[in-house]
Amino acid sequence: MKEEIGFPDTHSKMGNEWPFPAKILHVFLVAGVTFQLITGLMGWCTGRIPFFTWHTLVGRMLILVIFLQWLWLFCFAQGRSVLMYLFPVSLSGLKSVLQDVKELMHYKLADPGPRAGLPGLMHGIFLLSATLVAAAGLVLFGTFHGWWTGLPIGLLLQILRWGAVALALQWIGHVGMASLHALIGEPLWRIFNLIHCRQKKS
Ligand code: HEM
Repeated sequence: MKEEIGFPDTHSKMGNEWPFPAKILHVFLVAGVTFQLITGLMGWCTGRIPFFTWHTLVGRMLILVIFLQWLWLFCFAQGRSVLMYLFPVSLSGLKSVLQDVKELMHYKLADPGPRAGLPGLMHGIFLLSATLVAAAGLVLFGTFHGWWTGLPIGLLLQILRWGAVALALQWIGHVGMASLHALIGEPLWRIFNLIHCRQKKS
């Protein structure tokens, strides 16, 4: 079982363990986006965002987390490796994605862990979508506070609403796939284990 042998080292330079910055940023991103999704979509449905002050406060903290995430991805060596997993634009990366898609069609889940492939690409798309939606939220927030004027509020609100729907669908897909992996006993919850970050060399 993969749980016993760990993920194959050939998958990535990081072995089977995500680096600490990736883990902590992931936790904050998941928590922040989830809170914004629930409060934002409830606001759309009911006409009034519950905990609106918290929506804008958590929203601004989420902007900071997203900024730190991109900073780490571009400015640190480990981050740049992860960037290639999120956006596998190389030939070998694209081959890994295609291989994962083929295997998925035969009901075989892609290997989790730090590697290029379908799960990484889906995370990349999620991060891009969250960045776009959160940026629209911040621009709207700035408009309400008079930081700038003349921006199309209606369009920004539509980007937020439909962007939130796209994020919610990805969120459901994400949790669904994660649950399937967990069902077959793969140790992918380790992304949430902030204590154990050194890679196992066994
Ligand atoms: C992934 C992140 C986010 C999601 C999913 C999200 C979701 C939403 C949704 C669905 C709405 C529309 C609610 C409605 O129709 O009444 C909304 C409105 C809003 N959001 Fe967010 N949001 C996010 C990030 C942010 C950020 C970063 C800020 C600001 C710092 C922010 C501030 C606002 C404001 C000011 C509104 C307008 C409320 C109104 O119409 O009165 N949001 N958000």
